[in-house]
Amino acid sequence: MKSKALFICQKCGFQSPKWVGKCNGCGEWNTFVEEIVQINQTKTSKPSVVFSRNVVPQKLSEFVSQNEERINTQNIEFNRVLGGGLVKGSLVLIGGEPGIGKSTLALQVALHLKNLKILYISGEESGQQIKLRAERLEIKNDLCYILTETALEEILLRIGELQPDLVIIDSIQTVFTEKIESSPGSVSQIRECTSLILRFAKENHLPFILIGHITKEGSIAGPKVLEHIVDTVLQFEGDQNQMYRILRSMKNRFGSTSELGIYEMRNTGLREVSNPSELLLSQFEEQYSGVAISASIEGVRPFLIEVQSLVGTSVYSTPQRSSTGFDIRRLNMLLAVLEKRVGFRLTSKDVFLNLAGGIRIDDTGIDLAVLCAVLSSDLDISIDKRICFAGEVGLSGEIRPVHRIEQRIGEAQKLGFQQIFISKYNQKGIDFSKFSIKVHFCSRVDEVFRNIFGKKK
Ligand code: TYD
Ligand code: MG
Repeated sequence: MKSKALFICQKCGFQSPKWVGKCNGCGEWNTFVEEIVQINQTKTSKPSVVFSRNVVPQKLSEFVSQNEERINTQNIEFNRVLGGGLVKGSLVLIGGEPGIGKSTLALQVALHLKNLKILYISGEESGQQIKLRAERLEIKNDLCYILTETALEEILLRIGELQPDLVIIDSIQTVFTEKIESSPGSVSQIRECTSLILRFAKENHLPFILIGHITKEGSIAGPKVLEHIVDTVLQFEGDQNQMYRILRSMKNRFGSTSELGIYEMRNTGLREVSNPSELLLSQFEEQYSGVAISASIEGVRPFLIEVQSLVGTSVYSTPQRSSTGFDIRRLNMLLAVLEKRVGFRLTSKDVFLNLAGGIRIDDTGIDLAVLCAVLSSDLDISIDKRICFAGEVGLSGEIRPVHRIEQRIGEAQKLGFQQIFISKYNQKGIDFSKFSIKVHFCSRVDEVFRNIFGKKK
């Protein structure tokens, strides 16, 4: 077997024979790491082995449609995000930052599954630590087995012996196969291990939950290819200091990606939150000026984001403008719109803008919330936190329609918001009667301002 050193981008899996600073695949800098790849091995992992010789082309019409067999995980939010339960033989990846509660979620699901044999494989924690966590969760399950092992060949052997109904691997970054020389956690290891697990899962009709760490940038560590291999990618997110956690589906071969599950981290584990507004209202006790919430979209994922602004009188002749997470040029443009349309005295004011959670947004649909946040701070009038916005703002102060408006409204409603301001040009072809949230259709920014801040400006 021939082995060869290759440089692989740790972000997207792009390969190069030489070290390069910038990846040609994804455009990232300094992501190349040298890894040893075996030439023969990559050949055997081609799908020709998975699909055996007796598979012949068949007419689509000859297939009998049948629903996938699903396991009810006894966790309503988890079931919902999976699209109605865990499909047998599927590979589910749960990604999230360290400490967010991935292991807790997985163990909780495992312990709640009565009458099914579960194998929880941990490469990060000892059996004792998992036992302590289980005690904290206060759930007992005699059919939950723990294995602390990281060698994939050994793991598959043990699975064969135990014949479980569900396998959880915590985490995929710790697992390694002997077939590859590079270290655990490297792109080629993660990719090869996941493909081997996928093949095993499909052949044995056995579902796997893989836990994956995410990098600082928020993507699942290891290459994007990992996301291509698995059937379902779930992201577990939330603020470490706040108690709520959101589980969202980013890819799902067996369900929709617009569902999300909400949990609250308690001393005794994760509590399912079936009525999200109860959670939001508790944070809503105080309202500050300078805050506006936008119903935004990144890719296909809708989410609500808090736009914070601070406006002050400038002590310098050139006012300061600062923006985190939002394009500064766009901010300047929006401020010019404010000056022209609302009489905001641009030249004498410092404006600071921040998107909560350190997130970066390119969606122009947050324009309206940015303007409202700035004006709210300037007037020192807070905006009711149950109101949100989704609209792009044009140079003449018109509110332009945004894409996926139904998803944005749906998410706002799901999260407990009561009113949303959108462009009146978003009205076409959508049945708004299905929403219980109040939708305001506006054509100009001053209309919104009048509605929110009264006649003051
Ligand atoms: P964990 O599941 O270990 O996170 P991950 O696997 O994503 O790294 O969860 C870690 C945090 O959750 C830890 O800070 C403690 C907290 N926690 C609770 O608040 N309540 C609980 O019942 C448990 C088990 C953990
Ligand atoms: Mg963990």
